[in-house]
Amino acid sequence: MSNTERTFIAIKPDGVQRGLVGNIIGRFEARGFKLVALKLVTPGKEHLEKHYADLSSKPFFAGLVEYMNSGPIVAMVWEGLDAVKTGRAMLGATNPLASAPGTIRGDFSLQTGRNVCHGSDSVENAEKEIALWFKKEDLVSWESAQKAWIY
Ligand code: RTP
Repeated sequence: MSNTERTFIAIKPDGVQRGLVGNIIGRFEARGFKLVALKLVTPGKEHLEKHYADLSSKPFFAGLVEYMNSGPIVAMVWEGLDAVKTGRAMLGATNPLASAPGTIRGDFSLQTGRNVCHGSDSVENAEKEIALWFKKEDLVSWESAQKAWIY
């Protein structure tokens, strides 16, 4: 199907510690996206610095890496129609105060520095992030018998 994309979605340490894993996964399932990869990880500082390399010159970079390194993260790959753009819409704005109710950040968070989740912001970055967080063999190709109902 055209515009079928894969996106990298992560539940940050605050999301895991606040018990939001099931709710966030449920939203992606209910929307009709297909789970392609999933793991709970503590990837370490070096990995997180690579993930946020584009932000390395920002004043909040060290604090961001410390926050991301403060506990386990749920790393996921979701696939479906316009998955990158739709995934970002489901997350809400970076600053939770600007996030609409009904989005993950708009429902569960108040601070940019504790905004619960991450989602790739472009197809190109999604590919890079998926390659950083997962081995090729961790990405599972499967077909749902319900696919015809969702699209
Ligand atoms: P993410 O990469 O986590 O999905 O977030 P994003 O694209 O919506 O926002 P981005 O600008 O890439 O920032 C990445 C994460 O850095 C933290 N941040 N803190 N203190 C601050 O001013 C500040 N700005 C950004 C947030 O956790 C943000 O999600």
